[in-house]
Amino acid sequence: MRGAEVTLNKTSITNGVISRENGEYELSNGTADVPAHGIEWDTYGPLLDIQAGLTPDYWENVDLLIEAARKAYPDSAEAELRICDIGAGTGNFTTAIAEVFPRAEVVHLEPNKHMNFLARTKFADAGQKNVHIVESDFNSFDWQDQAWDIIICVNALYMLAPQAQTLQTIRRALRPNGFFYVVDFGREQDASQWFWYFLKNALKGINTKKYIQSIPKWPQMLASAREGGKTQVEGAWWTHETQEFGETLETAGFEVDGLTACYCGFADRAVCRPGTQTGDDHP
Ligand SMILES: C[S@@+](CC[C@H](N)C(=O)[O-])C[C@H]1O[C@@H](n2cnc3c(N)ncnc32)[C@H](O)[C@@H]1O
Repeated sequence: MRGAEVTLNKTSITNGVISRENGEYELSNGTADVPAHGIEWDTYGPLLDIQAGLTPDYWENVDLLIEAARKAYPDSAEAELRICDIGAGTGNFTTAIAEVFPRAEVVHLEPNKHMNFLARTKFADAGQKNVHIVESDFNSFDWQDQAWDIIICVNALYMLAPQAQTLQTIRRALRPNGFFYVVDFGREQDASQWFWYFLKNALKGINTKKYIQSIPKWPQMLASAREGGKTQVEGAWWTHETQEFGETLETAGFEVDGLTACYCGFADRAVCRPGTQTGDDHP
């Protein structure tokens, strides 16, 4: 995938080098070195945003995060929360939550500097000063007990093996009244199903312009979807059905609410409370 040129708004990536019109954006000094597994994350960010733009279900997951957060913290304009988005990618969920909680400290935790560059442009464009990009993978992050009010993890948990241990770390890191919003790809990626879905939507007039604009990127999008599916079949990424997903969350000690399949049926979603935390929580 290196050597590709992609453009997103005023940002372009050519041969792995990112540049942006009107302004310099410093990349963080992080040294995160996370194996890419099937997907080449360095060039995936713009593809993620194109796919998100064609997928109403992606934005439904953003809306449901905001709904859960507003329900938990109705005084959103004043709430001084600590919020962490794990595997935050190009910042779509981070931007949305930071907008609703302008006084919160929002950490965008993401190991890939190219993803972070795209995210940084969104935070800058939105004038969001309360978001901190931490260029780190999950395991290198300094997880403190009961330090976070909201933890978000969208389509990254499947990579964070062993998931039972990852989930326990997240549960311990939540404050007692906090919650964990999780969406996770569970089913094997089927590139052709995605493309039928995009086409059917376009024919119905949903995102038709974006669909046409996306056509030159299809070879890259198909290739990454196929790589993702292959990585799942090889067993390097966790796959699950909805029931197993819920049971895994409960086994980690979470109280699970709103468990459901989502994201065109490929993923599962839940809002989780940390439950009763005991002194035995440390493995
Ligand atoms: C499919 S993307 C999801 C991005 C974002 N959450 C969203 O839904 O738009 C998965 C993200 O997880 C990140 N990731 C991969 N390994 C990770 C790790 N060990 N710790 C934290 N993030 C990781 C990747 O760099 C990538 O940005």
